[in-house]
This record gives sequence, C-alpha cells and structure tokens, in this order.
Amino acid sequence: MMTRRRLLATLPAAALLRGQQNSGTSDVTRVRIDAGEITARVNPMIFGQFIEHLGRCIYGGIYEEGSPLSDERGFRKDVLAAVKRLNPPMLRWPGGNFVSSYHWEDGVGPKDQRPRRFDTAWFAVEPNRFGTNECIEYCRAIGAEPYFCINLGTGTIEEAANWVEYCNGTSDTHYANLRQKHGYAEPHNVKYWGLGNEIYGTWQAGHKSAEDYAKVALEAAKMMKWIDPSIRLVACGAGDPQWDLTVLESLGAIVDYISVHFYTGSDDYYETLASVKRAEHQLQLADSAIEIAMSRIRGHEPRSVDFPLREKRVELAFDEWNIWYRRRDGRNRAVKDKLEEPYNLRDALWTTSMLHLFQRWGDKVTMANLAQMVNVIAPIHTNPQGMYLEPNFFPLELYRAHSGDRVIHSWTDGPGYDSPTAGRTQYLDVCATLASERLAIGVVNRHKDRPLGAQFEISGFKPGRAGKVFTINGPSPDAANSFEQPNLVATATRDYSDFSSQFTFEFPAHSVTMLELGT
Ligand code: AHR
Repeated sequence: MMTRRRLLATLPAAALLRGQQNSGTSDVTRVRIDAGEITARVNPMIFGQFIEHLGRCIYGGIYEEGSPLSDERGFRKDVLAAVKRLNPPMLRWPGGNFVSSYHWEDGVGPKDQRPRRFDTAWFAVEPNRFGTNECIEYCRAIGAEPYFCINLGTGTIEEAANWVEYCNGTSDTHYANLRQKHGYAEPHNVKYWGLGNEIYGTWQAGHKSAEDYAKVALEAAKMMKWIDPSIRLVACGAGDPQWDLTVLESLGAIVDYISVHFYTGSDDYYETLASVKRAEHQLQLADSAIEIAMSRIRGHEPRSVDFPLREKRVELAFDEWNIWYRRRDGRNRAVKDKLEEPYNLRDALWTTSMLHLFQRWGDKVTMANLAQMVNVIAPIHTNPQGMYLEPNFFPLELYRAHSGDRVIHSWTDGPGYDSPTAGRTQYLDVCATLASERLAIGVVNRHKDRPLGAQFEISGFKPGRAGKVFTINGPSPDAANSFEQPNLVATATRDYSDFSSQFTFEFPAHSVTMLELGT
C-alpha cells in the first residue's frame, strides 16, 4: 500500500495546487466528491437479471429435475444460493429471441402433458417443463419481481391479454380460473411486461417494421392494461432513433419504458473497457427519442379515452447487456457452444463500469437486466456436479450489497488513454453513492499493468477514520475462474482506518475497489 507521504512525493508540485488540471501527465488522479450534490437516484431495479430458454440457462442451469443437487421443485440448490448472493430485484423471462415464437399456454398445467416444441430461435427442442408457474416460484424463491416478455413475433394480442389474466386475474373467468386449477389460488401479480423482443431484427420470428410493430404493440398494450391497469410496460427499442421515435410516438402515452440492448467485446483490452462510452451513446440516442416523442405526445389533443394515459416521462430499460463475442456466431447462433462465454477479470472491470453508467443515469435508467444469469453469457457456470462463479459475478454482488441509493457529484482529473472508438478515457473510473450513513466510492483501475494513486477531497460528508475496502482482482487481466481454480478472482474485504476528508489511496492494476466510508 502506498502511504500518503509516498504518494504525495510522486506528485509534481504543480499538480498539488488547488484547481490545477492534471491533463494526464501525472500518475495521480485527483478526485473531488461533493456529497451535498445529488446527481441521480439509483433504482435497485438496475441490478435485474435475465433467464432465457437458451442452451443451459434454464435446463441444466437454474433447473435440473432429478439432479441430486436440486430440490423437490427441480431448482438447483447450489445455483439458488449463488443467485441469492446476487440478490436480483427483478428477473426477466422467457426471452430473448426465444419469446418471439413462444406460446405461454404450452408451459402451464401438468408437466407430463405439456407439448415438446421445436424452438426456431435457437434450433433446439423446448420441453416446456419450466413455464409460468415455475418461473414465478423461482422469482419468489430469490425475492425478485417477475418481468415477463410477451410474444409479439408469432403471438396474438389476445394471447398476451390472456397471459395477464392468467397471472393477475381475480374474477371468475377462464384464465384466472385456470391458474387456480393449476394450484395458484392467489394472483401472481406480475407487474412488469415487455412488449416483444428485438422485433426490429430479421433474426426474430415475426420480425416487423417500426410502423407494424408500433401498431400491434399498442393494441397488445391496450388489451393487457384493460385486464390489469396497474401493470408497467416496456416497449421494444432498437438503439436506432428512427425506430424508437416511431414506436414512442405511438406507444409513449401507454408504456413506462423503452428497452435498450447492448453487447460488446473483443480481445482488445483497452477498447473493450472504453466501449462503455458506446453504451452511453445508446442511452443518449434513446433518451433523445423519448424527449422528442414526449413533447409531441403532450401536444396531441384530444386524447384517446380507450386506455389510461400517463403523463410521466418514459424511462429506459437496459434489459440486455453484457460482453459477448467469444461464443458468438452470426451465421448459426445455435451451434456456438450454446453461448457459454468464458469471462475473465477484464470483463469484471467492464461490468463495474457499466454499473457506474447505470448509476450515473439513475434518474433515467430505472431498470437493467444482465444477459444472462446462468451458463449462457452468464456470471454463474454449472456442470451436473457443481458450479463456479465467473469474475463478473463479484462486482454485481458487491454493488448490489454496498452501493448507496443516491449518486453524488464526483469529478476526476487523471491520466488516461485515447480510444479510437470512444475518445479520451481516464484509467480510473469513479462513481460515488450515498446511503444513509455511508459513502461508497467505486473505483475501476483500467490500467493493465500499473497501480494508480488517487488523491481524494470529500465535501458534504464527514468521514470517520474507519471503514472498509473491497477489492476484486487477480494475477492478470486474463485471470479466469474454472472448476479447477474457482477462486482465482474474488472479492477481498479488509478494514481500513485512514479515511478522512482528504486522503490518498492506491488502486492496484486491473482492479475494482469499493471504499466504504462511515461517519
Ligand atoms: O441474450 C442472447 C440474445 O441476444 C437474446 O436472445 C436476444 O434478445 C439478443 O439478441
């Protein structure tokens, strides 16, 4: 650990002067944090997860009937325990591409009578043994809100409304009664519903133009809300302002969110880490579309009385995000090792910076779902005998448990690198959040080889000397966990007793650190 004296000795005298710009020449980053300035509220729903009927995400992942590792419901107990550590407040299901030809009625009722279907999304056989009620049971077991996505590829608007009735209906009507017959007297109260998945893409069953999608999605939304006006709806966004605008002009008065999906990654270490800026660009584009659409909607008179209108601004649901390139094959998605992407420490750094992004955008990004939770581009990896945690598991666990609920203003000036695609990128990525009596300062040191020091100045919060330091690191950026070496990358926790309003700290190369300061 670099002491304060040693660190200050490395600083050029001029850089110590208040107000002086670092301009990237010193190794020390200056960080100013003002706890008096709240810049965003963090919605816990940004820690959502996603499971799809794809490869071994569900079957052989969270659910494995007959396994000695499973409980009587078929839920893998080891996986359940790991998921509880992630503590996701929300679980998106059943797809993904899978949902665009999924008929929910195939997945309810006695398991042995459910049809086996060919899944045209992933060219696989779907046994339908995990369906609506199994997913609800799983959500209850992990304490997550279910977020169901409807089939707007090959499905009908009536089928979507019937699903809402099956889940949430309380009247003496067919689908509400069917749920009761299946053993669930009380409604499931599924609050979050997605209006289709990536319908803009030709890889989707029932792919549509923006106009065609907007038309059918509006009718589905209307009918679903007629069944249960309290549900919250997510329109399918495309990362393309033209699509988003068309969709929002039609749906902006009835939906609560528009979705954003983002996948990235390459073997280029620094470029991958800088790609978070491209994710932010996606948010900026979607946000502009919301702004324009909302202003146009507000100008429309008279309003429709056919469904309850909402005045609130549409929010952003970042409902698929991850690094995915090693097990990606544009020509034949099904055969690319079932998307079992192996992750390394560098990917954990990227995951942390994405969490920082969602936190900074907290007022607008009010939901996010990592794609996906188990085995398929996922932080948890199983085989029939056990499981291990990928490096990106650890920041998800750490931030969910230790971040505050308010983002506070932080300013950094330090060395960085020039990314050809994302521009100037500082090595230290800092995001500070406030909980009632705690200040949590998350720091990613993106530098591949060197520890970097930072000089902190904190106002609006009087830290006590004692606190905690959480570090996620490993022997190299390529370090990866495996069945043979499951603990190469993990979180290390230690007490620290040298915090104050002004302190220095050294961050190891290629690491994630969270400084937890109390009063
Ligand atoms: O998460 C894997 C796939 O990526 C999802 O099925 C789809 O929505 C996206 O293209």
